[in-house]
Amino acid sequence: MDLPRHIAVIMDGNGRWAKKRFLPRMVGHRTGSENLKKLINDCDDIGLEHITFYAFSTENWKRSQEEVSNLMDLLREYLDDHIKNERDNNFRIDFIGDMSRLAPDIQTKMKYVRELYSTHRGIFVHIAINYGSRDEIRRAVCEITEEVKEGNLLPRDITEDTISSHLDTKAVPDPELLIRTSGEMRLSNFLMWQLAYSEFYFSDKLWPDFKIGDLLEAVKSYNSRDRRFGGRNEVK
Ligand code: FPP
Repeated sequence: MDLPRHIAVIMDGNGRWAKKRFLPRMVGHRTGSENLKKLINDCDDIGLEHITFYAFSTENWKRSQEEVSNLMDLLREYLDDHIKNERDNNFRIDFIGDMSRLAPDIQTKMKYVRELYSTHRGIFVHIAINYGSRDEIRRAVCEITEEVKEGNLLPRDITEDTISSHLDTKAVPDPELLIRTSGEMRLSNFLMWQLAYSEFYFSDKLWPDFKIGDLLEAVKSYNSRDRRFGGRNEVK
């Protein structure tokens, strides 16, 4: 099976997974976090190059204070687990989004984990935390404007590549495939620039139930599509 180089995933449906079982929402998030860990190692085993997961959006701060604080605690646990079990993991990991709004101890753990995993050779995992596409583009515009102001860049020399190279994903190829779970069909402010030509795949599975077999189904569907990038494919 031909694998795309990069898959992006919107993990949705933790709350509904818990509700169906009459469990607190947090149990859904916790099970979702365990699923994330397992899926990353399975994706490493199949030889995928890059995968990006949407874990916490710039809009997620609007959830109840209790849920936000529980999600932040879950993130702490997730990072601690990666520190403790570093030897069992072969993947590299980094984070996209605006880290500056996160608690200082979380920022420290994120930097530590990124450094600790930087010598690994496996799949490159990107986790989006306090990420929003519009915010990412806003931050890129601020940086570019500074360069213009300092006289290092002329406005007419700003190309699409200039913008791409100021996004959080600058070192990563654009995802060829986006997967969203739980039957929702929205982009929710995720990688809007980078997904301009990507194929979208929507799964009815709730995130805690989404396994490697489901991801391979998505890849199969992706492989059956005719990608034209706005052009026309000649009839063979
Ligand atoms: C969407 O489910 C999920 C989230 C907003 C959080 C995603 C988080 C995880 C998968 C686990 C945590 C990961 C880390 C790295 C700590 P939802 O709450 O919107 O579900 P619902 O739509 O069914 O209510």
